[in-house]
Amino acid sequence: MTIDDHHAPNAAGGSESPTGRRREQRSTSRDLERYAGLFASRTRTMRSSAMRDLMAVIGRPEVISLAGGLPDTSSFPPETLAAVTSRMAAEDSARALQYGPTEGLPETKRCIAEVMAAEGMRADPEDVIVTAGGQQVIDLVTKTLIDPGDVVIAEAPTYPGAVPVFSSYQADVVQIEMDADGMRVDLLEETLDRLARDGRTPKFIYTVPTFQNPAGVTMSPPRRRRLVELAHERELLVLEDNPYGLLRYEGTPDATLRALDGGVFVMYLGTFSKILSPGLRLGWVVAPPPVLDKINLGKQAADLCTSTMSQLLVHSYFEQADWRDYVDSLTEIYRTRRDTMLDALAEWFPREAEWTRPAGGLFIWVTLPDFIDTTDLLARALRENVAFVPGSAAYLDGRGHSSMRLNFSGSDEDAIREGIRRIGKVVEEQVALYGTLTGGRSPAVARASQAAASEQPEGPGAQVVPMPQRSARGGRAHRS
Ligand SMILES: Cc1ncc(COP(=O)(O)O)c(C=O)c1O
Repeated sequence: MTIDDHHAPNAAGGSESPTGRRREQRSTSRDLERYAGLFASRTRTMRSSAMRDLMAVIGRPEVISLAGGLPDTSSFPPETLAAVTSRMAAEDSARALQYGPTEGLPETKRCIAEVMAAEGMRADPEDVIVTAGGQQVIDLVTKTLIDPGDVVIAEAPTYPGAVPVFSSYQADVVQIEMDADGMRVDLLEETLDRLARDGRTPKFIYTVPTFQNPAGVTMSPPRRRRLVELAHERELLVLEDNPYGLLRYEGTPDATLRALDGGVFVMYLGTFSKILSPGLRLGWVVAPPPVLDKINLGKQAADLCTSTMSQLLVHSYFEQADWRDYVDSLTEIYRTRRDTMLDALAEWFPREAEWTRPAGGLFIWVTLPDFIDTTDLLARALRENVAFVPGSAAYLDGRGHSSMRLNFSGSDEDAIREGIRRIGKVVEEQVALYGTLTGGRSPAVARASQAAASEQPEGPGAQVVPMPQRSARGGRAHRS
């Protein structure tokens, strides 16, 4: 078969891709064979983001998606967007349509400095690069620091969107357990010692200390201080990923790692995605100058510069409106949705389930009995037209199989209640099925007798340290 044969119009009709090929023919085994020898070795370790895979399914209108990390962009006033855009067009049309400097426009950096000041940090514009979202920061930092096999430390669970980045640069990711106070810095220290004994030093520590995605927990102030101390003692770089710090529903803010560190070892990732719009694709990185210079080179190669139109739009918005008012309105909306989801979990999830109670951010992390595999459960849930992110998406080592991430920002309260009811139903079916198969014993008893029978003690790292702050137990409403 020649290339021309391959592109010949398909007699069977149907939708054609721009190259004239039917979409469903894209990945036949012949195709794979034809191209396999051409792929770079790093593609072997590339993984698809769990979220990207789910997007196709959860886009269907009948599906209630508690899977994505979608902010509620419908709450942004369309007339504000119209006013901001038309002023940008009137005042800055030629620049908006033009390329810009790789590091970003000065006026956008001033807006970034304002956001960082609201979180207790001072940023010198010289130390900032404006990026295509926070996601690009993770990519550029990894590209800058990681050779294949280098160690990155991350939380267990970690941000699912970081997993494909670390995989594609062939990093060796070591995940540190968390509890309700965030990353266990004592375990981090032990891990660093163990790695040092093997002659290995992590290239960087990746953490989402505030309202973590996916776990919803926040690192306590003593752990923050200790983490920064460790970075100084051992001269380790830390990437602090902070998209959610301003979305706080209760309590008072803790100092960021960047504020504690003063810009020596902590690289900082910020984004407009969750406080304004992910459609802008606008984020930023603040890092020590030598690291920033390398990141700049990486960005030049990746995309030359971040969209000038998005950058000027943000500037126009900051000039014309008080961005904090919108963040306040989001906070009100999300607080109610979080509470709705917590109440629905208590009502519809079986007593064996446990979950976190986030003081901010967008996610609740649910841990189910370990005989439930949430990837299988997702297939069942999708039949009920509801979606979540299976916990394994947040691990690089196969753990997390009995956990799930639930998002409460992207659905209204009725959808949250209904979505949780549907997931609760499939979870309860699984629990009942397990009970039948194990002769009606409770999961805990069955697990204990299973362990006793096999006399296999659970090895370190084989167990997910739970992060429950609240569960279905304890006298709250529970469906009988
Ligand atoms: C922890 C974390 N980091 C980074 C990102 C990337 O965000 P964006 O590229 O939209 O700025 C997200 C998005 O959900 C996130 O949750």
